[in-house]
Amino acid sequence: MNDTKIIWFNSFSKRSVTNMVKAKLFVLDKHFDGWPKESDLKIVEEELPPLKNGEFLAEAVYLSVDPYMRAYEPSLSPGQTFIGSQIAKIIDSKNPKYPVGEHVIGQFGWRTHTISTGEVRGTVGRGTAPQLVSKKLKNLPLSLALGAAGMTGNSAYFGFLEICHPKAGETVVVSGAAGGVGNQVGQIAKIKGCKVIGIAGSDDKGKWLTDELGFDHFINYKTDNVAETLKKFAPNGVDCYFDNVGGEISTTVISQMNDFGRVSKCGSISGYNEAAKNSSIDMFIIGKQLRIEGFLVTRWIERWHEGIEQNIEWIKEGKLKYRETVTEGFENMFKAFVEMLKGVNVGKAIVKV
Ligand SMILES: NC(=O)c1ccc[n+]([C@@H]2O[C@H](COP(=O)([O-])OP(=O)(O)OC[C@H]3O[C@@H](n4cnc5c(N)ncnc54)[C@H](OP(=O)(O)O)[C@@H]3O)[C@@H](O)[C@H]2O)c1
Repeated sequence: MNDTKIIWFNSFSKRSVTNMVKAKLFVLDKHFDGWPKESDLKIVEEELPPLKNGEFLAEAVYLSVDPYMRAYEPSLSPGQTFIGSQIAKIIDSKNPKYPVGEHVIGQFGWRTHTISTGEVRGTVGRGTAPQLVSKKLKNLPLSLALGAAGMTGNSAYFGFLEICHPKAGETVVVSGAAGGVGNQVGQIAKIKGCKVIGIAGSDDKGKWLTDELGFDHFINYKTDNVAETLKKFAPNGVDCYFDNVGGEISTTVISQMNDFGRVSKCGSISGYNEAAKNSSIDMFIIGKQLRIEGFLVTRWIERWHEGIEQNIEWIKEGKLKYRETVTEGFENMFKAFVEMLKGVNVGKAIVKV
């Protein structure tokens, strides 16, 4: 930004830039391998051309730092500007919808200056066009448009209420509880009259959650035994789980959920830096927006025969095909079992005595 010299004079937008503006941007140099290394990104300078009609020039004021950047990095190509949203001040404009002096929130990436037409670009998932923010914030600090009054807050609001459907008196667990999304979820849960247990990585964070935000309990996953502590705080089980972290913590929480509990899977940060975990079920559940609802087949015990009859009919009609992997000999039960666990079988594994 220091090397940017801007001289203003009257024009279409009342102001225009005579000197070229140089943007600084982070581009991906090499794909991350495990934890990102500084040398995986490089800073480059880009000389921006004069504005064309319909364009505006925005100067970054706040840049968002989000876990999804790590998660989406593999989908970027080397040479691309690193992804992210920012609040930027419009410093020149040839687009009357984006007047000079206003602030926009835009998915411009990690860069100081951006020329935009107001269209969606450089985003992940379903992006939005740059939005003017000042009036919507009703005098709250501008930066909130990246957090509690932005995507982060909406992740908490919709992700929790629309998926967990919390009821007063229920027990809610939030992992990543002291983060942007997590703390807001816990607070919304309190608003809804729930008992809230937050899981996070330091006692200071826990103190903030319980003493200042009104969480009922806190578990430090780095020093506490999560399973035991959770049992103590939620002796009647967990009804809703808002999951920001995935992995072991989530397995522990889910194992203590009540029947017909609801899980909102928001993130799985515990695996973002581990290639193996990035292809785990956590990522698919989130990416494909799957609903977590378990079942025990005995739920349909009253309709048991209906199912068997229908399947037989479909097999007879040739609509249903089947395959078996048959292991010979009772003594091979264990072998068949282990091979099944390793996936040797195709179709139904059985042993033929
Ligand atoms: N699905 C969506 O649309 C959507 C939208 C926004 C965010 N998200 C996801 O929501 C989660 C929270 O996002 P945020 O923006 O609010 O970030 P955040 O929680 O403010 O920051 C990340 C936090 O994750 C915790 N963490 C890091 N490594 C961990 C590990 N191995 N195990 C447990 N916790 C770990 C750290 O807190 P500790 O000190 O507690 O470890 C860190 O502060 C992320 O997973 C993100 O990807 C999803």
